[in-house]
Amino acid sequence: MESLRDTGVVVTGAGGGIGAALARRFAAEGARVAVNDLDAARAEAVAREIGGVAVPGDASTVVPDARAALGGRIDTFCANAGIATGGGPEADEENWAAAWDVNVMSHVRAARELLPHWLESGGGRFVATVSAAGLLTMVGSAPYSVTKHAALAFAEWLSVTYRHRGIAVHAVCPQGVRTGMLDGTGVAGDLVLKPTAIEPEDVADALFAAMAEDRFLVLPTEGTAEIYAARATGPDAWLGGMNRLQQKLESLVAQQAGSPEGSAI
Ligand SMILES: NC(=O)c1ccc[n+]([C@@H]2O[C@H](COP(=O)([O-])OP(=O)(O)OC[C@H]3O[C@@H](n4cnc5c(N)ncnc54)[C@H](O)[C@@H]3O)[C@@H](O)[C@H]2O)c1
Repeated sequence: MESLRDTGVVVTGAGGGIGAALARRFAAEGARVAVNDLDAARAEAVAREIGGVAVPGDASTVVPDARAALGGRIDTFCANAGIATGGGPEADEENWAAAWDVNVMSHVRAARELLPHWLESGGGRFVATVSAAGLLTMVGSAPYSVTKHAALAFAEWLSVTYRHRGIAVHAVCPQGVRTGMLDGTGVAGDLVLKPTAIEPEDVADALFAAMAEDRFLVLPTEGTAEIYAARATGPDAWLGGMNRLQQKLESLVAQQAGSPEGSAI
């Protein structure tokens, strides 16, 4: 991998959690980092800490301001901002729309702005923080699972379409990571995510290993590749196992709250 020194990097949702860890890691490698977050104070705190520049606001519209803040060029864009929305089809329209907007469309809108520049100048790097929920599924959370599958599909499409034109794409798919998002995942998170949760810095390490190897799929949590392979080769056995997990979740929720409703993350 070429040196990142003085390259321009944008990380969305970098006011904390995985995004902040990615921003710190790129800065440690000598990159100039634009720290984006909806929460301006958190973006500014991380930018100050790493000697970067804060570009607060919505991840969907950050590219022009970030490009200007970085002196005219973005070499790497980390589409990391995401929201965890629980429930199934009964979840509110607004919650489904927000999940699509942040988890998928912010990637599409950023790519729309980035690609003309990258294609003209011979390349760029697009990092999508997806989730293992985009390869597998997350019990209790249909909007999250569905939109993370879509984010993975978009990242794959970008790689398929632009690989030969100098554009590197990475899809980062961890299981549980110890961040504010994990804290809010309730009983489903306690059951599925927390026992094997890793640190945000582990996710940054896994991304950098994948960048060095020019590898698309980034699986920071041990064992994810094996489950993904089992799903592909034996979908009914995998679905049966996941349904047993769902039943376990329902009985845990019933024990704790007297009802299986409200089990979503
Ligand atoms: N924590 C986990 O267990 C886990 C596992 C797999 C994948 N992920 C994914 O990793 C990414 C980062 O998650 P995290 O765990 O660090 O979460 P987090 O909630 O700790 O941080 C997310 C940050 O994104 C910001 N944000 C939300 N919407 C935004 C928007 N529209 N524009 C700009 N900023 C916005 C929030 O203010 C917050 O600071 C997400 O895409 C998430 O889905 C997290």
